[in-house]
Amino acid sequence: MGDYIGALDLGTTSNRFIVFDRRGRIVGESQKEHHQIFPQAGWVEHDPMEIWHNTREVIRRALAKTGLRGTDITAIGITNQRETTVMWDKRTGRPYMNAIVWQCMRTDEMCRRLTADGGQDRFREKTGLPVSTYFAGPKARWILDHVDAAGQGVAAGDALFGTIETWIIWWLTGGPDGGAHVTDVTNASRTLLMDVHTLSWDDEICDIIGVPPSILPRIVPSIDVDTWGTTRKDGPLGAEVPVCGALGDQQAALVGQACFDVGEAKNTYGTGCFLLLNTGETAVASRHGMLTTVAYQVRGRKPIYCLEGSIAIAGALVQWLRDNLKFIQHAAEIEPMAAKVPDNGGAYIVPAFSGLFAPYWRSDARGVMVGLTRFINRNHIARAVLEAVAYQTLDVAEAMQKDSGVALSSLRVDGGMVVNELLMQFQADILGVPVIRPKITETTALGAASAAALASGFVSGFVELKANWAMDKTWQPRMDADQRAKGIAGWKKAVERTLNWID
Ligand code: G3P
Repeated sequence: MGDYIGALDLGTTSNRFIVFDRRGRIVGESQKEHHQIFPQAGWVEHDPMEIWHNTREVIRRALAKTGLRGTDITAIGITNQRETTVMWDKRTGRPYMNAIVWQCMRTDEMCRRLTADGGQDRFREKTGLPVSTYFAGPKARWILDHVDAAGQGVAAGDALFGTIETWIIWWLTGGPDGGAHVTDVTNASRTLLMDVHTLSWDDEICDIIGVPPSILPRIVPSIDVDTWGTTRKDGPLGAEVPVCGALGDQQAALVGQACFDVGEAKNTYGTGCFLLLNTGETAVASRHGMLTTVAYQVRGRKPIYCLEGSIAIAGALVQWLRDNLKFIQHAAEIEPMAAKVPDNGGAYIVPAFSGLFAPYWRSDARGVMVGLTRFINRNHIARAVLEAVAYQTLDVAEAMQKDSGVALSSLRVDGGMVVNELLMQFQADILGVPVIRPKITETTALGAASAAALASGFVSGFVELKANWAMDKTWQPRMDADQRAKGIAGWKKAVERTLNWID
């Protein structure tokens, strides 16, 4: 048995391979960004072949950096941007079109039709999800409706559907030469096609949405040593390494944060922002705009569920200011700018770029910047950007508390934006609870590695993983109540302004 675990983190903006040692320390990594393709307003695509090429490159580079060989790796775990949809020809491995990314709104019309005929929550009881452009099933149907070759592929029995972990595992385990066509329960729970109670594809919903079950992957537990297959010797690892786990990235972060007990929650500040609360073996139905989704499943055990509040745009707002507006050159410039002013000066930004996700689920919403006067300068805007992330989290946390009946007592945070001290302090102030950052903030990759480590016996169990979690810093709320109430009231008014923008 090798002494290392590999984690493949297939995110929205980049792919990474990270090698962990037995003590959970990172010994080497490599990362590469991929292109974000915006064919028209509200649409987002990725090139699936670019993701596969970059995956190979980062694995090879990380191994080269560490001087390790594939045979030194005991197992690999995979984590991925969820919902992003690929459809390809299993004879050639060629995608029928670019991947439709989770943020893409091209299925809006289809979702409105589905909603008109039975309401936005028509599939909620079975799937735990509202009808929304966010999820993979309607995206798959869109491909079938618009790409002739895909429809022909289905008729000929050659078409395969997958989210990103399915696509990459298929390639790693053989591709056209017998690659495994599988998905884990957490990713399957984001399609709007899986019954979260039975953990199987729901024929009736597949029929209504129009996705033939023949193209769907086999659903398997997230943490398992046998069902995923092994990588190929002629692949980037150069060895047969078992794939032992796969988890959607937000669920991976929950595992990486060691939130294994009922009531434990984490919030990840990445491209978007995702607050997940462990509800144990109970799939808690939401009445306040949360998603009921699978947190993880160990083979042979019952699944663990969570409630999720999904926010589409968090770090992506900073990227937008940098790339589209050229407002800054580097993302890190935002914090010092924001720190130059004591508050937002009355300005708010609501980044409803993909409509509004939780708890609103409004595809008719679009982003706004409000409260502008001649007093407002660049620093106020920078501050409003950071505050938007914290206020969106507040909206989700409030809805989550109504659903679960449990008051949040603290919040564990992770993801790229948690280096931003001003944001973390403001988050604690606005939530009114301590915000806690762990020592390892690479929780997504750590979660994938933990899944593989558990499945392959590299670690003894969840208790050991929990013992490894360590705190780095806590921010205590210190804003006075009036200021907080005034800030929140302004935010709620700003959110109102985003609604009904699209007819
Ligand atoms: O549901 C979308 C989510 O999985 C994307 O996460 O970290 O790649 O932005 P991230």
